[in-house]
Amino acid sequence: MLQDKINALIEEVNHIEIRDAESLESFRLRFISRKGEMSSLFEEFKQVPSEAKRELGQLMNALKQAAEEKLKSSSKALDRERDALAASAIDVTLPSTSETLGSLHPISIVRNEIVRIFERIGFNLSEGPEIESDWYNFTALNFAENHPAREMQDTFFVARHPDTVLRTHTSPVQIRAMEKQSPPIRTLSVGRVYRNETISARSHCMFHQIEGLYVDKNVSFADLKQTLLHFAEAFFGKGTKIRLRPSYFPFTEPSAEMDVYLGTDTPSNYQLTKGTGWLEVLGCGMVHPNVLKNVNIDPEVYSGFAFGLGLERITMRRYGIKDIRNLTENDARFLRQFAGAI
Ligand code: PHE
Repeated sequence: MLQDKINALIEEVNHIEIRDAESLESFRLRFISRKGEMSSLFEEFKQVPSEAKRELGQLMNALKQAAEEKLKSSSKALDRERDALAASAIDVTLPSTSETLGSLHPISIVRNEIVRIFERIGFNLSEGPEIESDWYNFTALNFAENHPAREMQDTFFVARHPDTVLRTHTSPVQIRAMEKQSPPIRTLSVGRVYRNETISARSHCMFHQIEGLYVDKNVSFADLKQTLLHFAEAFFGKGTKIRLRPSYFPFTEPSAEMDVYLGTDTPSNYQLTKGTGWLEVLGCGMVHPNVLKNVNIDPEVYSGFAFGLGLERITMRRYGIKDIRNLTENDARFLRQFAGAI
């Protein structure tokens, strides 16, 4: 009977679940469009005797309304679901939250700057190990056996007989460079050095040096002085004054220490230079003939100069760092201040 058919369809419409756009569309085709269930119902309706038409017509209307209700509510629900999904999805057009960038260590910043200054005047880079034999750290550098000069540097011994040490300076790299290359040699080496010193605000048992070496025919003390003046002006500023004071190192003769003039204008320059205005920056001298002989370079033909400077002191001066221990404690609050430098 038509009545049962319509009632069954109303029942179905009320219970049908519409979960996505696809089932919504097939629902629409089946119950709403004129080609669906409705058209065959109408065909049957035509056959119905006229006294029954009124009641069945109402039932057909009820089915039509139920279907339209269902379509409306389902399509609303699907819209809401889609909006919620869109809201929770990743918005690829949003600017990204920035990651904190790492920073170069202040020692690296100053090292890079000094290396660039010397690279521009033709120095290359050499490297050597931090654990050195006695030969490279002392003997080849003309430290005589039992010479008091060995006591100048409080050495950390790694092993005895044969002696192996944590290098006390970067000068052993001079020896390694001269073994590998033949003159002209213009080389720079940077690295950590170790001395058995009590750690305080001003000194540490591990620090950094930069070593320079130039060996060629006719290298003179004037060349050394000009090179150092060039460095001082490039690093400390144009017009910086330098002075060379006589000193002693077993591997250079004559030897000197270079001071730069900072003045006493600021309290920190006054303190740093102990009221003299002069800051001691490096040790230097003409490569001792015995050192050249130790690496089979003829001192009658060649001469050279060398210098060695500590990185910590000038780094601390540049950034106003008061305690050398800041440089090794890896406190992120300290290190972050150097972000952006190259
Ligand atoms: N190696 C010396 C030091 O550590 C510095 C130096 C290097 C002096 C080269 C002269 C020449 O004190």
